[in-house]
Amino acid sequence: MLVAGGAGYIGSHTCKALARADFEPVVFDDLSNGHADAVRWGPLVVGDVRDSAAVSACMKAHAVSAVIHFAGLIEVGRSMHEPALFWDYNLNGVASVLAAMRVNGLNRIVFSSTAAVYGQPGGDSGELLDEDAPTVPINPYGESKLAAERLIAAHCRAHGVQGVALRYFNASGADPEGEIGEAHQPESHLIPLAIEASLGLGPRLTVFGRDFSTPDGACIRDYIHVADLAEAHVRALDAPVGDAGFVALNLGLGRGLSVLDVISAVSRATGRATPFTVGPRRPGDPAVLVADPSRARAVLNWRPAHQTIDDIVATALAWRLNPRFGPASATSAARVA
Ligand SMILES: NC(=O)c1ccc[n+]([C@@H]2O[C@H](COP(=O)([O-])OP(=O)(O)OC[C@H]3O[C@@H](n4cnc5c(N)ncnc54)[C@H](O)[C@@H]3O)[C@@H](O)[C@H]2O)c1
Repeated sequence: MLVAGGAGYIGSHTCKALARADFEPVVFDDLSNGHADAVRWGPLVVGDVRDSAAVSACMKAHAVSAVIHFAGLIEVGRSMHEPALFWDYNLNGVASVLAAMRVNGLNRIVFSSTAAVYGQPGGDSGELLDEDAPTVPINPYGESKLAAERLIAAHCRAHGVQGVALRYFNASGADPEGEIGEAHQPESHLIPLAIEASLGLGPRLTVFGRDFSTPDGACIRDYIHVADLAEAHVRALDAPVGDAGFVALNLGLGRGLSVLDVISAVSRATGRATPFTVGPRRPGDPAVLVADPSRARAVLNWRPAHQTIDDIVATALAWRLNPRFGPASATSAARVA
């Protein structure tokens, strides 16, 4: 398997799941945001996915049979300031990989998509989102990911190949065996930031808005463990895609938790209070974003193993206390008194 972006957070967990399923993951990554130390289950080829000749040469050299594509830029806020960069990485990167697949006669791609393709669904209604919900992204990140999905779907139709877009909700947690974990730089995700604040290793957490029409006024999201996401990718490699040759699937637990619920879970895990302040809402943050994952369950025969936020946070905390790589790896454990 060619795993584009396999040195990153979700990609590296997927490589571990691939190896467990007896595939050899060949990671193609420019290491702009990934970690060479996270590549442990197969070779690492350093390169930019927008360089189609390099991707094609890698496919040939390693005789790969399919592609899982994680490579891209992920920070929503940055996408507002640098839209052209996001379109370049997230759309041209996919076009380049599809071209290399054609050269090498590969016929399946599994693509990392996102709940951000839905934009602000249903206002504050809080209904579970299925894949037929309108896709109206509200930032260049979501727009570029939706465009990439559409390009893949068109490519599948035109060339008789097969594509699966996996729309993740909030990826979270770390490898339960502690070998790999989340090491984004900068970190923008709630659970690692809350853990930092709770352990006194990072600044006080900011909760963006407590005036949403939710029971406690904070945003509600669907947190899905990264190892369960990884397992879904392995299953997507031979999932049925229908006559269109392309299917999009929501990956979430189908259960919403508020930001304050997550903060409480972090405090339970660390045994310490998690200091936070309430700030204004971020532009474009919907009140509720929770998946209806029924289609993924049916198509992938997928059942997430990590069902509670305490379980998810426990793995994230274990990783934070003993990170094997990333910005926190050198001193973290020693600094937690
Ligand atoms: N983390 C989440 O909660 C989340 C949620 C929804 C969707 N996603 C999607 O999942 C994918 C992976 O997310 P992640 O959290 O693992 O991010 P990440 O930044 O940890 O991983 C992305 C990897 O891609 C590599 N990369 C980036 N541009 C590249 C290029 N041009 N050529 C080669 N390699 C390149 C980076 O070095 C990194 O290793 C992204 O496409 C993202 O849009 C993530």
